[in-house]
Amino acid sequence: MTDFATWIATQKDRTEAALGRLLPRSDEAPATLHAAIRHSMFAGGKRLRPILLLAACEACGGDTEKALPAACAVECIHTYSLIHDDLPCMDDDDFRRGHPTCHKVYGEAIAVLAGDALQPLAFELLLQSGGAELVKELAVAAGSKFLIAGQVLDLEGEERQISFDELRTIHEGKTAALLTCCFRLGGLIADASPQSMEALTTFGYNLGLAFQVIDDILDCTQSSEKLGKTAGKDAASGKSTYVSILSLEKARDEAARLTNEAHAAIAPLGQSASRLREIADHLLARDY
Ligand code: IPE
Ligand code: IPE
Ligand code: MG
Ligand code: MG
Ligand code: MG
Repeated sequence: MTDFATWIATQKDRTEAALGRLLPRSDEAPATLHAAIRHSMFAGGKRLRPILLLAACEACGGDTEKALPAACAVECIHTYSLIHDDLPCMDDDDFRRGHPTCHKVYGEAIAVLAGDALQPLAFELLLQSGGAELVKELAVAAGSKFLIAGQVLDLEGEERQISFDELRTIHEGKTAALLTCCFRLGGLIADASPQSMEALTTFGYNLGLAFQVIDDILDCTQSSEKLGKTAGKDAASGKSTYVSILSLEKARDEAARLTNEAHAAIAPLGQSASRLREIADHLLARDY
């Protein structure tokens, strides 16, 4: 088996190349909009969601070439969510993926529209990897009961003290739902068994929650240069996070506990899930 660092770099490169091919060119009309989309999409970004989708597909014995458009689709949804998350009416961030945010460069209206355009594009791409089953999966995860619900509660939580359970609901919605969806899409494209789908779902949920706990930790422990986004923003805007509600140390324990739960979920998959185990450990240890 290829070593993990090489494998992950390869999946990232494949995703970048596919995005380059599949997204509208920046000189295509309306050029400002397409340039804005490419600005945010190619500003950097770890491409974790596409990598997770490809890893799940590979672990279930699927064809990852077939999964590449779906991998690009989840990155489109993610990037749109970041463009909108950074708007002045939401988190009001000037810096993302090491560059000025979309609205800082192109203005708020074009940033809203760039995010809008990325959503149908995601579903158009998804249909290159499969059918209605995939569309439903992503539509639900990105919709009003999950990703958007999390974003709504996250904003409402700035104005009042929230409980730990409410915070977990926010994190489930704004982050864990899309991460779970990535694993499930990879499994569906590989025509995985119901048992494998269940394992991937529990794995994705726990890893998705851990991912947002770590995002909260990094916000108050890393520099803006390292993160490519403004550090310390959560405390400054009075956001409720795992760190503010639990403490830094307990948040770290919680991320480790969730990662262990993720590992336990895929134990039944045996050797075929080795890459997924490496991913779980990689995400727990990440420092940006
Ligand atoms: C940031 O996601 C937003 C969260 C849901 C925490 P990432 O940390 O994956 O951001 P990029 O894609 O690498 O920029
Ligand atoms: C963003 O959460 C989640 C979505 C965009 C759906 P955050 O607001 O914590 O993400 P960052 O810290 O700005 O990347
Ligand atoms: Mg936010
Ligand atoms: Mg934000
Ligand atoms: Mg954050």
